[in-house]
Amino acid sequence: MNKVTNDRAQFATKFGAIAATVGSAVGLGNIWRFPYEAGVHGGGAFLVCYIAFLFIICVPVLCAEFALGRNARSNVFGSYQAVSPRKGMRLPGYLSIAASLLIMGFYSVVAGWTMEYCLTSATGNLESITTAAGHGEFVEMTTGWRPVLWTMLFLACNTFILMGGVTKGIERASNIMMPILFVLLLAFCVNSLLLPNSMAGVSFLFKPDFSQITPSVLLGALGQAFFSLSLGMGTMITYASYFNSKTKLVRTAMTTALLDTMVAIIAGLIIFPAVFSFGMSPSEGPKLVFEVLPTIFAQLPGGAIWSTLFFLLLFIASLTSTVSVSETTVSFFCEEKKMSRKSATWVATGIAVAGGLLCSLSFGALSDVTIFGKTFFDLFDYVSSNICLPLGGMICSLTVGWLMKKRYLEEQLTDYHTHRFRFIQVFVFILRWVCPAAILLVFLNSIGIM
Ligand code: TRP
Repeated sequence: MNKVTNDRAQFATKFGAIAATVGSAVGLGNIWRFPYEAGVHGGGAFLVCYIAFLFIICVPVLCAEFALGRNARSNVFGSYQAVSPRKGMRLPGYLSIAASLLIMGFYSVVAGWTMEYCLTSATGNLESITTAAGHGEFVEMTTGWRPVLWTMLFLACNTFILMGGVTKGIERASNIMMPILFVLLLAFCVNSLLLPNSMAGVSFLFKPDFSQITPSVLLGALGQAFFSLSLGMGTMITYASYFNSKTKLVRTAMTTALLDTMVAIIAGLIIFPAVFSFGMSPSEGPKLVFEVLPTIFAQLPGGAIWSTLFFLLLFIASLTSTVSVSETTVSFFCEEKKMSRKSATWVATGIAVAGGLLCSLSFGALSDVTIFGKTFFDLFDYVSSNICLPLGGMICSLTVGWLMKKRYLEEQLTDYHTHRFRFIQVFVFILRWVCPAAILLVFLNSIGIM
């Protein structure tokens, strides 16, 4: 299966491969979703479950996705088919396209907010707003037709980068922007820690109250771990198919997981000290970050500049993530349906626009339409992260654990026999039993069976 010399695109450098992978992983999931999920689910208790799932389940699944993708050097469909041609192996491909509709839907709405906040800060209108006004600002921004407009604008940017292709578009943007974002986050973190009463926020995040661990906390943490690492819908399979043979799989997986977690924790350390310092509530849900941040910026000297820069970088971080979601779909339509890159990009855009419309309208015209008591926006967010992604991860784990030939798996984990990988038996055991069982337990637990 190791067709090293075909003419598919490859990331040009090792750094580029890591930057693109981290670029996919780091995004709104870390800076917007992690604080809101942690806030809703009790802070410390959530963080403990999140980190446990990350290392017990998600890092092995990430290695498995990498192995699957680089082994076949193909899209999600091709990668699963390379392991076994049976019909059931098409399921993950379809699941992936469904997940991309759901994720692109709510994600581009939130990314649209970051664009609008960036513009509003640049024109000075976010400056000196208080908590109450911050709330007003948010409501105004997310109702009516405005979110639809910004969502579509964001998707236009996404399409533009996708047209540029893998190395020119994706790799170059990630190389420059990810390091800048990281430094800026650290600066904001220091600022938040210096606020009065900031320690209440720190202990909210770091002092777990184990009595708070409920089935919904477990499912939320599992979903967040998958979402944050871009796992479970074949994005990492697709990106690994662009790795060259020198990229170190296991090390790249560890680096990605560590950096991604660090960014999430830093985001938590920006948000929660501020939440407690300003006397706000940590369990506001999806709007948390968008109400807290302007309040933080308002008390900084030169707040408008900080705010503009921050939302600009957040917008770019979102873009490197949505590009990876869309790339999964684009590579599928290019390779399996033999479309040109251009047409495939338009199909992926169409899927994203459909999802984006439903989700952005759920703040306006469709705000009364609820399914299981959730608007489209909330439903897409919940179903993709808490159901589709863990399910996709389970399928990947079982496929690589049970069906992939050991020889090929070893070839990937040793980066084509350039070094040894001593834990292969343990790794296979984890993929065969531990990951699937853990995911199943969390599922059963959450629907109240166990
Ligand atoms: N991980 C990204 C974030 O944290 C979002 C993302 C990109 C994603 N690609 C994905 C989530 C694939 C699930 C699946 O913002």
